[in-house]
Amino acid sequence: MSTQSNTDRVYIFDTTLRDGEQSPGATMTLDEKLQVAEILDAMGVDIIEAGFPIASNGDFEAVATIAKRAKKAVIAGLARAIPADIDRAGEAVRFAQRGRIHTFVSTSPIHLAHQMRKTEEEVLEIVTKTVTQARNLIDDVEWSGMDATRTPVEFLARCTEAAIKAGATTINLPDTVGYSTPEDYYELFKRVIEMVPNSDKAIFSTHCHNDLGMAVANSLAGVRAGARQIECTINGIGERAGNAALEEIVMAFKTRVDALPFHTNIESTHLSRASKVVSAAANFPVQYNKAIVGKNAFAHESGIHQDGMLKNALTYEIMTPESVGIKSTSLVMGKHSGRHAFKQKLADLGYEMADNQFQEAFQRFKDLADRKKNVYDDDIIALVDDEIGSSADRIKLVEMSVTSKTGGIHRCELKVSVDGDPIEVSFDGTGSVDAIFSAIKEAVKASPHLVLYAVDGVTGGTDAQANAHVRLEMNGRIASGNATEPDTLMASARAYLNAYNRLLVERGAPAQGALAG
Ligand code: KIV
Ligand code: ZN
Repeated sequence: MSTQSNTDRVYIFDTTLRDGEQSPGATMTLDEKLQVAEILDAMGVDIIEAGFPIASNGDFEAVATIAKRAKKAVIAGLARAIPADIDRAGEAVRFAQRGRIHTFVSTSPIHLAHQMRKTEEEVLEIVTKTVTQARNLIDDVEWSGMDATRTPVEFLARCTEAAIKAGATTINLPDTVGYSTPEDYYELFKRVIEMVPNSDKAIFSTHCHNDLGMAVANSLAGVRAGARQIECTINGIGERAGNAALEEIVMAFKTRVDALPFHTNIESTHLSRASKVVSAAANFPVQYNKAIVGKNAFAHESGIHQDGMLKNALTYEIMTPESVGIKSTSLVMGKHSGRHAFKQKLADLGYEMADNQFQEAFQRFKDLADRKKNVYDDDIIALVDDEIGSSADRIKLVEMSVTSKTGGIHRCELKVSVDGDPIEVSFDGTGSVDAIFSAIKEAVKASPHLVLYAVDGVTGGTDAQANAHVRLEMNGRIASGNATEPDTLMASARAYLNAYNRLLVERGAPAQGALAG
């Protein structure tokens, strides 16, 4: 087995806050972005792409604030090949100890013909102009040829050469549409690196989308062919089927150093926590069988496997749960646990909360401990993530009563507060959930379309807390909401409200009515 000293270093470029946040319904608030950035920085991510500064004032503020706060990571801002974009990205990252402008332009014939309406020669000129502009603002410039995997290699090589000549220090060849195979992607990097005379002056980067489920395999193939930066996201979130998953890449290098003689700077014991933070912030549940961070990733259900594991863990385990930061489930606290013990538990789980948020969370923990005999770490994580995720909500559930009768009516009586003002409504629905969601629509005078509704138990057992997930769509915008409660219907109501509140944040709209349409 090789050791780290004779393996090659691969830089991890995390784009959870840009490409990840771009996926429908994954919008995060500023506080949530800061929380995610903090954990990425602490776990050793080399470059954090914090957002797309020209997209909105909110995006600009997020990139600028993350740039000011980052301790170690390079902070990148994305820019199209447009002068105003590049200036805005430069303005946002100038606060960073180490900032980067990441500018991109499409290079494939299909994008040139239908999206850009430009010739190859015109695109080449744009590459030189935009990279030069970015280099006049900052030393660290990354250039991406969008849809590189569907671009003729000769033209891609010419663009790459021009970008490096103009001062790009990183060259990214994205598989924008998730079309490539590992063999194709390997070949692309080999050829471009060989064809471009100044290729030794830049670091080459992969950026793979997961439309065919090959994003991680493709990224690893790119590295084998000479790339030394991988662009990826926590939990693989991102446009459509997502991006290459950071946790899978890190653990592939760590576990299969014999086949993949590379290493990253990531402290892998942070992976499980990072996954939970991103899932809560983006309101994106992690599939149970997701590699590395899924609930079942280390669960051995079958008798044969369990028997083997008891005799020797190596029989069925290629990496330990501890190596990705999973601690064995512990029975943590109960109704006699005090404020101090709760604070210590939060610190052990990696949470730092403002005083008022802590008081709220502690009260909810006490209420939970009164109702639920065993309070596990997962219960506390769900409760605290819920508290953080809903703290900025303008519309809150105050009281709810639901009555249901076989063959009879299903009625929801609801009291919510809208910016502090109470509103009471009641609604009869075809079932309990229909009555609740309709009552909320009545209260907020809006009718968002319900895209998804799912409920899940935080732990096992009938007394487990319910985690409800709701996704709403209105006027082409999508927002997701989450809530955890001992009662499934309460969780459902609060998840719906949380999603609706997020639609309001995205639009900066008045709380009632403005979203109707
Ligand atoms: O997928 C892609 O091509 C991108 C670029 C902006 C790098 O996300
Ligand atoms: Zn992308």
